[in-house]
Amino acid sequence: MHKLRRSDPEVVLITGASSGFGKSIGRYLAGKGYRVFGTSRRASYDRPESGNSSGNDSGNYPGMKSGNESGHKDFADFSMIPMDVTDAASIAAGVDHVLAKAGRIDVAINNAGFTLSGAVEEVSIEEAMAQFDTNFFGVWRVCQAVLPHMREQGGGCIINIGSLGGQIGLPFQSAYSASKFALEGLTEALRVEIRPFGIRVVLIAPGDFHTNFPKNRVLGADCGEHSAYFNRCKSTLARMESDEINGLPPNDIAPFVEKIMRHPNPAVRYTVGKIDQRLAVFIKKLVPSRLFEKGLMFYYRMG
Ligand SMILES: NC(=O)c1ccc[n+]([C@@H]2O[C@H](COP(=O)([O-])OP(=O)(O)OC[C@H]3O[C@@H](n4cnc5c(N)ncnc54)[C@H](OP(=O)(O)O)[C@@H]3O)[C@@H](O)[C@H]2O)c1
Repeated sequence: MHKLRRSDPEVVLITGASSGFGKSIGRYLAGKGYRVFGTSRRASYDRPESGNSSGNDSGNYPGMKSGNESGHKDFADFSMIPMDVTDAASIAAGVDHVLAKAGRIDVAINNAGFTLSGAVEEVSIEEAMAQFDTNFFGVWRVCQAVLPHMREQGGGCIINIGSLGGQIGLPFQSAYSASKFALEGLTEALRVEIRPFGIRVVLIAPGDFHTNFPKNRVLGADCGEHSAYFNRCKSTLARMESDEINGLPPNDIAPFVEKIMRHPNPAVRYTVGKIDQRLAVFIKKLVPSRLFEKGLMFYYRMG
């Protein structure tokens, strides 16, 4: 294991760095001098890509401010490697590649994810399992791959990207919400297990940000027009997508992630996003559950 000298840049692995949060965080950290390896299922070891050129977007989205405009002057390029978080062999190959190139992994950011929508009654178990395979077991697999190296090198930091949807059960997003609730439990338990090894584990729960997230949303195969839930599901998802499209720019999250990485004793979770969305989590803890549900149904115009 390569010992970190004062002059060496810290090595960061970010899953799902071809767009959205992963790409913004990667570019920001690379600009700050970290050695960043981002992952995408579409990257290839034969065709080395950079975090700037990979993926299906420029890192900026219609209506959002660019990195420079939002005050982050120092975005830079980073290396992209192939990785599918549903495939343990692909993760092992990616981790081996980073270790061969950089000798260590100081920070792993479990960011890869997507959302599956539809009513519980109609989303198939196979579809729900695929949601968990990426959003929950993907994180578990990456943790299993990086932890032995972090223990050996005497420390490290794991940041799991959860969601406010992992603190409030979102209607017609049940599989997504459940996968992010599960991630909360994993994060809490892992934190305590690995504390003696000097490894910090944190969950960041974002509200709505403007990324490719709505574009990559999957609707359950049986949740179409014939569904008894169709109209309510459609209007709820329309409201959610409007919130996502009008969400904050993903570049805003990157400096916050770096702050947490640098924190010697971070809290278990941090919520980030618009104040009204973060307030909803706080209100949920304060008011009776039936009142909170009424508010949720009113917000999503669920009748
Ligand atoms: N945007 C929001 O409003 C929001 C709010 C709360 C939480 N989040 C969470 O933030 C994380 C990032 O989402 P985003 O908003 O940045 O969405 P995004 O722009 O759609 O990016 C998702 C990333 O995940 C990767 N990915 C998806 N499935 C994968 C798999 N099986 N293996 C490896 N990589 C995979 C994609 O890479 P490839 O397709 O190139 O492989 C892509 O880089 C997700 O965990 C999401 O749940 C987002």
